[in-house]
Amino acid sequence: MANLERSAQNPSGKRDEPFPRLLENKLYKPGIGGLGEPQYQPESLRIKSFCGEVIQTAEQYRQYLETQLFPAAREHQDITRIIDRVIIKAGLFLPSKGLEFPIKTEAAVHLGGRWEGYDWAMNGASLPGRQLTDRTRTDLLMQAAKAKDFTFSLPQELPPGFLMEKLSPEKLTAQDMEDLAEIFRLSFNGYLTPLEQPDQVEAWINGENMYPIGVRNAQGKIVVVANGDIARMTFGNQEFRFFEIGDSAGHPDYRNIGMNRLIKHHLLSEAAKMDFDSIHTETRAAWTSPNIGNAKNGMVYGGTLWSNCQISGPEDVFETADPQLNQDSRRMGSLNIWSMTQRSPLWEYYRDHIDEPPTLESLA
Ligand SMILES: CC(C)(COP(=O)(O)OP(=O)(O)OC[C@H]1O[C@@H](n2cnc3c(N)ncnc32)[C@H](O)[C@@H]1OP(=O)(O)O)[C@@H](O)C(=O)NCCC(=O)NCCS
Repeated sequence: MANLERSAQNPSGKRDEPFPRLLENKLYKPGIGGLGEPQYQPESLRIKSFCGEVIQTAEQYRQYLETQLFPAAREHQDITRIIDRVIIKAGLFLPSKGLEFPIKTEAAVHLGGRWEGYDWAMNGASLPGRQLTDRTRTDLLMQAAKAKDFTFSLPQELPPGFLMEKLSPEKLTAQDMEDLAEIFRLSFNGYLTPLEQPDQVEAWINGENMYPIGVRNAQGKIVVVANGDIARMTFGNQEFRFFEIGDSAGHPDYRNIGMNRLIKHHLLSEAAKMDFDSIHTETRAAWTSPNIGNAKNGMVYGGTLWSNCQISGPEDVFETADPQLNQDSRRMGSLNIWSMTQRSPLWEYYRDHIDEPPTLESLA
């Protein structure tokens, strides 16, 4: 079993109670959650898990599914989605035939460095009522393909007077919390983590293993934000550390001018310096600009998690209107996996990159 440094479990130990959303100064992080044992996430109508074994054979994975993941899924009548993250030997084919739930690999991160030869597979099963039509899936895939066409380029510099900074709880004011809450209110109709109120933002900022970065405008107001979630686990004597970039949001007046991409560029650099085994981000498949931003930062598209969790907001492809979805599934959004690992030719660039955004002259 994985020995998890970070745990997102319900402290009561009872799996069938809704998880507390905010604990004192600690946040239950549905994005990372489910480490070690399957977790019921009622807001996303799903079971989410991170397999505690490194998988070497298809049979080993089948055993895990049948003895650990599926029994947990059976306990919850209302779920329409199962998602499992698992480290597997690269290239291993995981057959879904004959399984009680139709789980298959939807996305993968190809690992490098000390995990060379392994993939981090993200496996999902969407049950009836939560399956998108082929048409919607094709639209979303075309959107991803368009984004994939963009190649690495340097991000834009910040306008004069704007500043990017790490958002540390001790430095933030009540006005900052309000400004951040406003950004999240204006960015999402529904989100995994409630962040619309200043006290919710405060709990989020104070959460463990957070690496939030913001941009302030010339008046000192925070206008764009994104966060890196740090997670570390051990499989026997092997450690796996990942950095998940999420909680991206920008005030509508400050979108599409490269600031989210600039923050992610900075986070990629920070994470590469910290030597993570994987840096990844789950980006709304229906929303163009952040996917293009990921591609321009040199991240690699690894697949799409279909109708994966509760998330909604502005979108270019209207997946939640798909007639095949039931009422509850209309809150769910699909997410594209984009990653950067030591296999990337850009890893050294990011690792050796200085804190300031680069200029063309500095790279010459
Ligand atoms: C997601 C969000 C933070 C992204 O920020 P953004 O300001 O739109 O994205 P950015 O401008 O930083 O980056 C996008 C890049 O793609 C480019 N781009 C965007 N749309 C483009 C298009 N249609 N064609 C070509 N390039 C495009 C931008 O110019 C930018 O590249 P640049 O840095 O070289 O200029 C913002 O749109 C938002 O708050 N959305 C609502 C909340 C949300 O959905 N968040 C979750 C996303 S997973």
